[in-house]
Amino acid sequence: MEIIIQSTPEDAAKVAALFIKQLIERKPNAVLGLATGSTPLGLYTELARMHREDGLDFSGVTTFNLDEYIGISSEHPASYHRFMQESFFSHVNVPTKNIHIPDGNTSNIPRFCERYEEQIRQAGGIDVQVLGIGHDGHIGFNEPTSSLASRTRIKTLTEETIVANQRFFTLGESVPHHVITMGVGTIMESQNCLMLAFGAGKAQAVASMAEGPITAMCPASILQMHRKTLLITDLPASSLLTKSAYYQHVYAHKPNWQRF
Ligand code: GLP
Repeated sequence: MEIIIQSTPEDAAKVAALFIKQLIERKPNAVLGLATGSTPLGLYTELARMHREDGLDFSGVTTFNLDEYIGISSEHPASYHRFMQESFFSHVNVPTKNIHIPDGNTSNIPRFCERYEEQIRQAGGIDVQVLGIGHDGHIGFNEPTSSLASRTRIKTLTEETIVANQRFFTLGESVPHHVITMGVGTIMESQNCLMLAFGAGKAQAVASMAEGPITAMCPASILQMHRKTLLITDLPASSLLTKSAYYQHVYAHKPNWQRF
């Protein structure tokens, strides 16, 4: 795992956006795995700026989102369909037919999930999967004790995640308890993982993920076994890493040919 510590979330978002820009320039038909939550917002803003000002072209890009709530309409303000539309898709030129987000209103969840996996395979697999991390170490909606080999499927949210995500719902409205999420095994098959984590509240999850034991109690920790994961944090989120001086040294002394 490569760990890049930046002073601010804005700086971190720029590094992440540059990685994706260079991928798209190298491979115009790149397949992006996308995430929701507040963490990737700066990345989406920067990619939209690159599209507007630098002509970064998403017309050949295909996207697959990690997850969606079950049982709320795709028009609901807290749905991940709506979130993606507002924070990213309406600002760039990914063709609508290339956008894939789990359907939380499907009448046959197992069949939908199998088909989602098949669509990822047919697209040639995911080139880079953007990830945030939950306070309990979840990725996508793969809560602690999720199988580290799991595929796209239904999951039940933990109380902690329901409370954390209540802020996206109006007062008195309850957060759905069930979701469809890509599995940990699905995520592990992507060529690159780009995990972002910001703020002191994520410091424990970041330390467990990067330096703790590999365990289903912290699903993100399996990324220690991933062939190419880039973890980009701000300073507060890196505060519990025991080897942060080493990671900073590595980044500062990267050979030029390895820089992006
Ligand atoms: C949700 C999403 C995750 C995200 C996590 C953290 O549970 N399903 O993909 O990483 O929230 O959210 P935030 O970035 O808002 O802290």
